[in-house]
Amino acid sequence: MIHRKKIKEGIYNLLTLWKLQLKKKIRGFYSDQHQLTSTTAVNRYPELFAEVQKIFLSSRNNVEPLILSFGCSTGEECFSLREYFKDAKIIGVDINNRNLRKASRKNNDARIKFLFSSTENIEKEGKYDLIFCLSVLCRWEDTKNVTNCERIYPFQKFEASVKELSNQLLEGGLLVIYNSNFRFEDTTIFGDYEIVKTPSVEDSGFVNKFDANNNLLTDIHTTCIYRKII
Ligand SMILES: C[S@@+](CC[C@H](N)C(=O)[O-])C[C@H]1O[C@@H](n2cnc3c(N)ncnc32)[C@H](O)[C@@H]1O
Repeated sequence: MIHRKKIKEGIYNLLTLWKLQLKKKIRGFYSDQHQLTSTTAVNRYPELFAEVQKIFLSSRNNVEPLILSFGCSTGEECFSLREYFKDAKIIGVDINNRNLRKASRKNNDARIKFLFSSTENIEKEGKYDLIFCLSVLCRWEDTKNVTNCERIYPFQKFEASVKELSNQLLEGGLLVIYNSNFRFEDTTIFGDYEIVKTPSVEDSGFVNKFDANNNLLTDIHTTCIYRKII
C-alpha cells in the first residue's frame, strides 16, 4: 500500500516538474519576454522608492509626474508607487495578460492604469517623467549558474528594450533599473544619461550581471538610477 502511494507521489512530482519546465519553455518563446516569473510584493523596494521620490521632488517638484512601471506584474508596484507619488498618473504595463487582469481587478484608483506591454501602448500614454524597470530586465534564475548568458538572455534584447523605453522618457526624467542582468552603462544610449548616486541603495546582488558580450561579471554593480540629460 505504502509502495503504491510512493509511486503515485513520484509520478505526480514528475508531472508537476515537467509541466513547469514546459510552461517555462512556452513562455520563453515569446520574443518580447524578459523575466519569466511574476513574483512581486507591496513596497518591495522601500529604500529605492524613497530615494527616487527624494531625487525627483528636489528637481521637478512642480509637476504631477507620469510614471511607467515596466513589468508591473499584478499591480503591487503601481499601488506602492502611489504612496510615494501622491499626484502621479501611473501606467503599469506587463506582457502577461493574467497578471494584468489581476491588477485591474484590485485597482480602484482612477489615476492608475494597466495596459498590455506594447510599444504602441507605452507611446500612447507617454512621455514619462519616471520609468521603473524592477526585476524585469533579467532571466532569474536561469542565469544564476552560467558564465555566459547569450543563449538564455542576450545583451541585445536588454539594450533594445532600454532604448525603446528611453525614447519615451522626458529630458530630465529618471530611468530606474534594478535587478537586471546587464549594466545600463554598457548600452549605446548611456551617453544620454548621468548616473544619480544613491549610497543608500545598492543593487541586491542576487541577479548576476553580465557584460555586453554576455560574459559573467564578478565586480559589484551599485548604480540603478539614471537621469536623462539629452
Ligand atoms: C519578477 S516580476 C517583477 C514585478 C515587479 N516589477 C516587481 O519588481 O515586483 C517580472 C514581470 O515582468 C513581466 N515582463 C516580462 N517581460 C516583459 C515585457 N517585455 N514587458 C512588460 N513586462 C514584462 C513579467 O510578466 C512579470 O510580471
